[in-house]
Amino acid sequence: MTDPITVRKQLDLRGQIWEWRGLGQTIAYVPTMGALHEGHLSLVRLAKQKADKVVVSIFVNPTQFAPGEDFESYPRTEDADVKKLASVGCDLVYIPRKGSMYNAHHATKINVGGVADGLETDHRPTFFDGVALVVTKLLNRVAPDYAIFGEKDYQQLATIRRLVADLDMPIQIIGAPIARDNHGLALSSRNEYFDDQGLAIARKLNLIMAECSQQIRSGKDIGEAVSQATSALIDAGFSEVDYVSLADPETLEIITSGQYSKPLRLLIAAHCKGVRLIDNCAV
Ligand code: PAF
Repeated sequence: MTDPITVRKQLDLRGQIWEWRGLGQTIAYVPTMGALHEGHLSLVRLAKQKADKVVVSIFVNPTQFAPGEDFESYPRTEDADVKKLASVGCDLVYIPRKGSMYNAHHATKINVGGVADGLETDHRPTFFDGVALVVTKLLNRVAPDYAIFGEKDYQQLATIRRLVADLDMPIQIIGAPIARDNHGLALSSRNEYFDDQGLAIARKLNLIMAECSQQIRSGKDIGEAVSQATSALIDAGFSEVDYVSLADPETLEIITSGQYSKPLRLLIAAHCKGVRLIDNCAV
């Protein structure tokens, strides 16, 4: 197990990337906000299958947190993260400082429309602006051949695909399957916030989602299936349901009725014990 090279400065990052490029090596990149868990490590393993070198960044991006969200308390576990990355063969960890990412004169905004509208944006209106901005900057800095994003943040993945295509970035975006615990709960750094009771409630989300998906698949009225899943979440102990929505998997256009021959995506966001959970599955 070799420790990854750790760099904090953009110049050092560029130097290493140029060296690898000079040797004809390809680069796969996994952006993260740290607090790494098995889900992130599965992205790194996938990255390793795609390219000669794997770069992971750790940066808790302030522009994607709204006032009142958990930017300050977001778990920061850098040393443990680097050890975990070493265990899966990551080659380089990039940990930029906040001031290097956004200097005092920063004035550029990036707003992705279409797939970024609705769903998450109805509840976190500035989230994808912050994600699009930091991901653009990080992709420009790392300049990888491939970038890997988890399907757990399904709308984020769709937004980044759109951004990269629209801005002609020569990078292949790869979606990775959702990693789950042995109760089916999608892995997330925010699962750390749960006590045992919260965890027991959170673990019901994927079961309710699977039941809703099954009902739609067997022809139940979409509106009825969605409202039944919403009630089931509240009955299970979720305090608030932001959405249970069926959408086209590429455009994320919301589907409320009709018969569809192609696979659709069911997306859910709900609050449990002060933690906002998202999940999704194919229908
Ligand atoms: O999914 C995340 O962890 C973050 O949104 C990302 C893509 C690293 C941007 O900060």
